[in-house]
Amino acid sequence: MKQLKDSQLETFDTEYVNDKRWKIVQEQIDRDFPDGDFTFLDVGGGNGLFADRLLMNYPKCRGTVLDNSELLLNRNTYNSRKTLICDSVENLVSLNNKYDIVSLNWLLHHLVGSSYAQSRQNINITLQTAISLLTEHGKISIFDNMYNGLLVDGLPSFIIYHLTSAKAISSFTSKMGANTAGVGVCFLSKQQWISTFERNFLKIINYSDAGEPWFTSLPRRLFLHMGKVHEGHFWLSISI
Ligand SMILES: C[S@@+](CC[C@H](N)C(=O)[O-])C[C@H]1O[C@@H](n2cnc3c(N)ncnc32)[C@H](O)[C@@H]1O
Repeated sequence: MKQLKDSQLETFDTEYVNDKRWKIVQEQIDRDFPDGDFTFLDVGGGNGLFADRLLMNYPKCRGTVLDNSELLLNRNTYNSRKTLICDSVENLVSLNNKYDIVSLNWLLHHLVGSSYAQSRQNINITLQTAISLLTEHGKISIFDNMYNGLLVDGLPSFIIYHLTSAKAISSFTSKMGANTAGVGVCFLSKQQWISTFERNFLKIINYSDAGEPWFTSLPRRLFLHMGKVHEGHFWLSISI
């Protein structure tokens, strides 16, 4: 899997799960883990701010943040209930542990390989590994972006992957605002996310929109074949 440069990763040192988005996850946790006593693994957890929210709101929980960016992991604040692991999701399978909640927030679209098909496969493999790390009543929590097509639903995903992963035009895509220029990104539409979860035997217990649709200029929307673009949260369990 490809890794972004530190200058690109730096922009991820922010609080993605803000108060509004937090309420969406909190509702799921309160329903499924009412005693607040659970373990979690935040894969691609970066600066640890999401883990810190979990630890602050649930004093009995403890968890691990795994990320392959040393830069972002170093931004974590210390907490005796938080473990940090600097590694790639490719090695998740070697974790010798089970977790009640595995979160993959805004991570899956970054698992870029040498082709679009390989990137989609990286998402499948990571979901399968995440499933294998769940406890009996474990849940998977995923925030991600949904790039829905104007007429052909999966087309923006395909176009954006090819534009952002092409090294030869990386200065152009970077100027167009793509932080992942030269490496690539594999956003999916809402329907593609749903099919991906179902194919991997995950049941959607809850879905919530996580913010207003993004405004994008008409030329850009037409160029990328973009319909509604928004963020959402999936709360999933194993379906078999
Ligand atoms: C958009 S940021 C999201 C950070 C965090 N999950 C949040 O919601 O605040 C993507 C994160 O995924 C991490 N990441 C990307 N590829 C990874 C990989 N192969 N293994 C582990 N972490 C990865 C990045 O370093 C970064 O911290």
